[in-house]
Amino acid sequence: MATIDTYRPEDERQIAAMYRRVFGADAADGNCLRWDWQYTRNPNRPPSGPQIWVAREGPTIIGQYAAMPVRVTVLGREIGGSWGMDVMVAPERQRQGLGEVLFRTWEQNVGAALGLGLSESSYRLFQKLRWPNVGPVPCFVKPLTRRALRRPNWPMPVNRLVSAVTLPFVRVVARARPLRAGVERIYRFGEEFTALWDRLAPKFVLAVRRDARYLTWKFFEAPHIRYSAVALKRGADVHGYAVYRHLQEARGRVTLLVDFLADPEDGAGIETLLGWVDREARAANSDKIRAFCLHGAFRKALKRAGYFQVKSTMEFTAKINAVDVPSAFYQDTTGWHVTLGDSDQDR
Ligand SMILES: CC(C)(COP(=O)(O)OP(=O)(O)OC[C@H]1O[C@@H](n2cnc3c(N)ncnc32)[C@H](O)[C@@H]1OP(=O)(O)O)[C@@H](O)C(=O)NCCC(=O)NCCS
Repeated sequence: MATIDTYRPEDERQIAAMYRRVFGADAADGNCLRWDWQYTRNPNRPPSGPQIWVAREGPTIIGQYAAMPVRVTVLGREIGGSWGMDVMVAPERQRQGLGEVLFRTWEQNVGAALGLGLSESSYRLFQKLRWPNVGPVPCFVKPLTRRALRRPNWPMPVNRLVSAVTLPFVRVVARARPLRAGVERIYRFGEEFTALWDRLAPKFVLAVRRDARYLTWKFFEAPHIRYSAVALKRGADVHGYAVYRHLQEARGRVTLLVDFLADPEDGAGIETLLGWVDREARAANSDKIRAFCLHGAFRKALKRAGYFQVKSTMEFTAKINAVDVPSAFYQDTTGWHVTLGDSDQDR
């Protein structure tokens, strides 16, 4: 019979070994690189230690539920939230009910339980537990070059033909547009970003608190990824930010718009941030820009800026415990701000 309790430092070796068995060697190496930052340096980490639950059978660890604590604004109130992340049950113990016990332990201990980018097995388990299904978070792509529409699973001649046929259209979509506000590259998130968040939080039905401490930890202190960030400015005042990075994929170069914030009603501001990312993407020779975005106003702004919605694989689930939410809360997510920068999606 398994018992569930919280993580102890001496568990690390066994958990690392189980991680390797469940997720494979590459993922385990990545986890090793991120672990200290992800679990012990999170500014929202509880004083008692990392938010990790462990399933034990005698001295043996057979499962874990590791989560990322965050503050979340929900209908104008700030509550403690938690992104479920590295969840696993030892292969020989799967499909015996242990996952369900771990999921419930996590959910009962947090004010808002949030899951992003679910695997097939966890997605099915959430469905079995009858959690609200609010995903997936829509994915948007802006083509910049004729290589933008290439697909790794198409033969090269087909890719070339598609590239040639769509080139005039890509040229129109990708044309440069003037910026309508100031944009300044930043290397830290100062307290002015906390003030920005406090001003904008009431505009979102649900969003993770994006204050200076959280943003600095998430986007400047991560050991596994280097991000670029810019502030949207009017005079000395900060009105928003964007975080992005460039990477090489199988059939081309991509700029990821990882996270951003602005007043959803500030159309010119959002357009300016997107225009800046366009320029950066072109300068980095990217073939396309990709963004994940749930909020209705931001989605409209992306479309106006030449992004197209494509199939998304980023499943999302949420369950709010700390405040009462109306039954329609989970049906209409147009006021929720969720991006690729949330949870640990960008690895
Ligand atoms: C997700 C996981 C933790 C669930 O643990 P578990 O102990 O197997 O889960 P339970 O036995 O409590 O629940 C089983 C239910 O989960 C779902 N499920 C679990 N594994 C599944 C799989 N391989 N395929 C489809 N559904 C699966 C089903 O709904 C299943 O119900 P069923 O057995 O009646 O069909 C475990 O499968 C696991 O470690 N998976 C690999 C790692 C992973 O994907 N982690 C999630 C990252 S987001």
